[in-house]
Amino acid sequence: MFYVFSSPAAIAEHLSQQLLEHIRNKPDSILGLATGSTMEPVYAALLKQPALQDTDLSRLTTYNLDEYIGLPASHPQSYNYYMHHHLFDTLGLKAEQTHLPNGLCSDCNSECSDYSAAIAEAGGLDFQLLGVGSNGHIGFNEPGTPFDSRTHVVKLSETTRIDNGRFFDSMDEVPTHAITLGIQDILDAKEIVLVATGEHKAETMNLLYRTPADPQMPATALKLHPNVRIYLDPAAASRLPQEALYHVE
Ligand code: F6R
Repeated sequence: MFYVFSSPAAIAEHLSQQLLEHIRNKPDSILGLATGSTMEPVYAALLKQPALQDTDLSRLTTYNLDEYIGLPASHPQSYNYYMHHHLFDTLGLKAEQTHLPNGLCSDCNSECSDYSAAIAEAGGLDFQLLGVGSNGHIGFNEPGTPFDSRTHVVKLSETTRIDNGRFFDSMDEVPTHAITLGIQDILDAKEIVLVATGEHKAETMNLLYRTPADPQMPATALKLHPNVRIYLDPAAASRLPQEALYHVE
């Protein structure tokens, strides 16, 4: 389950090749995408893959995990803005190919149920990319979220708001709520890769390794899925026992 690479750049190179191969083998792939610092090198490496030039992206569909409530797509900290800036605009994907929850929803409950339904109707996620919060959240599924949850509105925990406060000028500007794909939606994906890099994720990975599936540690839901890989750099893997690790050359 835990694969250790020499550096975040080595993870980005491997994972971007894997994503591209996935798209080339199945041009109508439905990808589940994540934002956050961890994904930035992955998307940057994908855009540099030479094989991207002759890859047909016209039938690709993407669904992002989450979006803050209250930020317009034009806000530099919205996940919509992030995805356009780091990936979609350079890939040249059409608007109808990419999906994020609408953080300016007036009827957010309908927005949530429509989002899960749209993914299911499209045929389900082929490949889900995940980061992980220091409290073990996946998407914005905070500790205590039931494993059978679907897309829902979440009140962000103070840990998450403080972690993400680094992207905002002041804590007052950090949104209090978000929409996230539910844990069951994530577990419905056919294949999942979670990436964690840096010393600040080492204890989270230690807890993930030692805790049986438990809603108080949302990432442990992945232990219920048959096709999950967790990609770590040496810093994030530093508190795991050697026998738990597969070292990738
Ligand atoms: C982002 C997301 C979050 C992040 C997590 C880690 O779409 O779903 O779960 O993956 O908060 O964020 P970083 O990578 O910034 O440490």
